[in-house]
Amino acid sequence: HQGSPQKAMSSLKEICGGLPLNPLPENRGRKSGIPHAPVRTPNLDSHEEKLALKNALRYFPSSFHEVLAPEFAKELRDYGHIYMYRFCPRIEMRAYPIQEYPCKTIQAAAIMHMIMNNLDPAVAQFPQELVTYGGNGQVFSNWAQFWLVMHYLSEMTEDQTLVMYSGHPLGLFPSHRNAPRLVITNGMVIPNYSSRDEYEKLFAMGVTMYGQMTAGSYCYIGPQGIVHGTVLTVLNAGRRYLGVENLAGKVFVTSGLGGMSGAQAKAAVIAGCVGIIAEVDEAALLKRHQQGWLMEITSSLDHCIAQLRYGSINTFLSVLLINSTSHQRTFLQCGEKVWGRQPSLPYLCYGLFLVLNLTFLRSEEAKKKKMALSLGYHGNVVDLWERLAEEFNTTGELLADLGSDQTSCHNPFNGGYYPVQLSFKEANQLMSSNPVKFRTLVQESLRRQVAAINRLSDQGMFFWDYGNAFLLEAQRAGADIEKRGANKAEFRYPSYVQHIMGDIFSLGFGPFRWVCTSGNPEDLATTDFIATSVLEKAVLQGVTASVKQQYSDNIRWIQEARKHNLVVGSQARILYSDQKGRVAIALAINRSIAEGKIKAPVVLSRDHHDVSGTDSPYRETSNIYDGSAFCADMAVQNFVGDSFRGATWVALHNGGGVGWYRSGGKVNGVSVHCSAVRRLPRPIK
Ligand SMILES: NC(=O)c1ccc[n+]([C@@H]2O[C@H](COP(=O)([O-])OP(=O)(O)OC[C@H]3O[C@@H](n4cnc5c(N)ncnc54)[C@H](O)[C@@H]3O)[C@@H](O)[C@H]2O)c1
Repeated sequence: HQGSPQKAMSSLKEICGGLPLNPLPENRGRKSGIPHAPVRTPNLDSHEEKLALKNALRYFPSSFHEVLAPEFAKELRDYGHIYMYRFCPRIEMRAYPIQEYPCKTIQAAAIMHMIMNNLDPAVAQFPQELVTYGGNGQVFSNWAQFWLVMHYLSEMTEDQTLVMYSGHPLGLFPSHRNAPRLVITNGMVIPNYSSRDEYEKLFAMGVTMYGQMTAGSYCYIGPQGIVHGTVLTVLNAGRRYLGVENLAGKVFVTSGLGGMSGAQAKAAVIAGCVGIIAEVDEAALLKRHQQGWLMEITSSLDHCIAQLRYGSINTFLSVLLINSTSHQRTFLQCGEKVWGRQPSLPYLCYGLFLVLNLTFLRSEEAKKKKMALSLGYHGNVVDLWERLAEEFNTTGELLADLGSDQTSCHNPFNGGYYPVQLSFKEANQLMSSNPVKFRTLVQESLRRQVAAINRLSDQGMFFWDYGNAFLLEAQRAGADIEKRGANKAEFRYPSYVQHIMGDIFSLGFGPFRWVCTSGNPEDLATTDFIATSVLEKAVLQGVTASVKQQYSDNIRWIQEARKHNLVVGSQARILYSDQKGRVAIALAINRSIAEGKIKAPVVLSRDHHDVSGTDSPYRETSNIYDGSAFCADMAVQNFVGDSFRGATWVALHNGGGVGWYRSGGKVNGVSVHCSAVRRLPRPIK
């Protein structure tokens, strides 16, 4: 990249100054050395291509069209979408301390802080394509929208609201102090056209956008956001399926080390089990390893199997050791009985036993280090499952206790799911050169994956769908996942909401997160302390046994999150809590800001997993059996309600995490807490 570093570094003031047109920034195209979104294949006809181009050019005065039109047309041809790489800002993209943003209201500065975090290359999956996570979870559709939104936000007053249509800033509208500063809708398509194929076209034309859950609502806080939920899922899967509180020595097999799925590695270790996670994309695998979230990586299936066997042998040893003191006592008593009171022989034997024990002890120490393990397998998850099934067939050993999948099956034919028959590189080529063939291979691969999982689950392994539409796509592919006599939203395996998290949601618990916009880790430490104290106090005051278990898990979570240094990007924390905990924590944070113990505003957000946040029949509403699991009124009401209950911004998304074929909705009620109680946190309730 040319130019002096000083020139290259534009300031936040420039970023908020509107589209850079005079002069036009140099078009440097796609950066090499960073991950990029797969080429999209929208299959536009020539009329639609013209529309795509026209829609992209609408952001620029006509005097620039001669330069920009051919460039945008080429992007559309080469990548299936117009990202406007020329306008990818040169500033180091990250969440800057809130006071550095030019603004007329601190609420707008908080939004800018969150947007830049969602696009931070350390946080975002494909930063140049404005994808935060999930393969296609867009913050905006193109870079022109980024510049315009930052400009609007820096100009916004507390009597205005910014309206966002699927990435497109419609403009600043008159409102009032207590109205949301930002209202976002993403992917709202009328039902007849709300299909995956239509979506690909509409996205390419720049008129709709998939916002995932927290990408297009600017609330993503890096993989930590999901680590907590994943820890809870694994812990509660252990409780429900294996009947254990302690997962030491248990094995969890899954796939995906991407945006959200990357959390599985850390979660396995925090939950105390052995997690083996397959990932086809070496860049994603290495990112998690460098971050320290993966303890080991390998591309050898033999190594994976050896690690699992080692784990089970050590489980046996540990049982022996735990009992060793009583063994020694029993041994001596038996010796006395057999050889009378002459000590020499029994003591000789006891000495021998001690030596043996020391040997065990050494392996036990090694095991303890190994006990909680996150092992990244660089390869296709189907190969891993088939190898585990083969091991069972040949040795009778069941090497996995728990299983799931977090490939991006909500987007299986465009890079979300890599078929086992192809290498990563071959797959990336075929998905754009021959999408029909690619689809066939994906479906065959899904059938093979399910066959291997079925073999192991028949022997006692427990598998669940991780809300990624894995079972739905497997069913469409013709895999054997039917649950006999069940309704159409049920499969042979449960969704993680249906069986595991649903019980927790039913207690009123859901995730909420806070971001310390000072960017100061000390502020985060203060909020962690506040949250822990509030929960400890609540436990002391007396709660039901099930709530107490959740609070205890949460206290453990905050301590572990600090210990494992889980912050990537903004200084943020996630916590599952019920209304009582949420409100108490929010008010305590507010007080600390007013007293100057926390140096800057804290953004509190709730998300799709929260009570009544989402209508999604294979996930959040999977436990609803009166037929309304397929309706989407609840999420819309939640979104509208939060907007008049005082949220600083609200977002409604179509598509959820499970695909485009139906209307899933999702809500974020976000409150910016600036000083003592400007907005009493009603959406936090
Ligand atoms: N973590 C959660 O709590 C949660 C909750 C709801 C939904 N989900 C869903 O989980 C999915 C994953 O989310 P993400 O943000 O991590 O997506 P992502 O696209 O960032 O990561 C998925 C990863 O899977 C890898 N992969 C694809 N096919 C593979 C295969 N056959 N073998 C091995 N690796 C393969 C990809 O290379 C990619 O890195 C999405 O569908 C998301 O909606 C996750």
